[in-house]
Amino acid sequence: MSRLDSFIRRLTAQKILLEHVAEQVKEVPGPILELGLGNGRTYDHLREILPGRDIYVFDRDLACHPSCIPEGDFMIFGEIRDTLAFCEPRIGEKAAFIHADIGSGDPTTDLATQSWLSPLIDDRCKPGGYVLSGLALDLPGFEELEKPEGIRPGRYHLYRKKA
Ligand SMILES: C[S@@+](CC[C@H](N)C(=O)[O-])C[C@H]1O[C@@H](n2cnc3c(N)ncnc32)[C@H](O)[C@@H]1O
Repeated sequence: MSRLDSFIRRLTAQKILLEHVAEQVKEVPGPILELGLGNGRTYDHLREILPGRDIYVFDRDLACHPSCIPEGDFMIFGEIRDTLAFCEPRIGEKAAFIHADIGSGDPTTDLATQSWLSPLIDDRCKPGGYVLSGLALDLPGFEELEKPEGIRPGRYHLYRKKA
């Protein structure tokens, strides 16, 4: 598959899955954590499909489209390994939904990320909350959910924390 086809499939899967989770998470109050602002595309989509919901965005850089810069209180700068571990006083409540799009494409880096990210996500997600991640995570207290039709196996991972 060409890189263009792969890119299109990745973005299509992101859109389908974000909209799928947005429907489910309407019944779960609490903030949303967007791990990896990047260009701001998925952040922009989340704020459109979940209006009124607090969305806290994490990234080490600000490199997004100017129309997608989060308001100051909601942009958390730094290494996610540090900021996610220490964001509780700032955010207060645990998250209803965590979207993690911080895969690097390098298998070794991604294995390391999976290892430090999994316990942090477990800690920051509330019971009944959802996690959508480009990287597979090790989340024993969660169930891995079926994804909507059309998403290739292994492309994205959808979890819900057991109540
Ligand atoms: C693939 S991009 C996110 C794309 C975004 N979802 C979008 O739709 O535009 C990944 C982003 O995560 C950030 N990132 C990756 N690993 C990180 C880490 N360990 N700490 C902080 N930011 C990180 C990168 O700086 C980059 O902006």
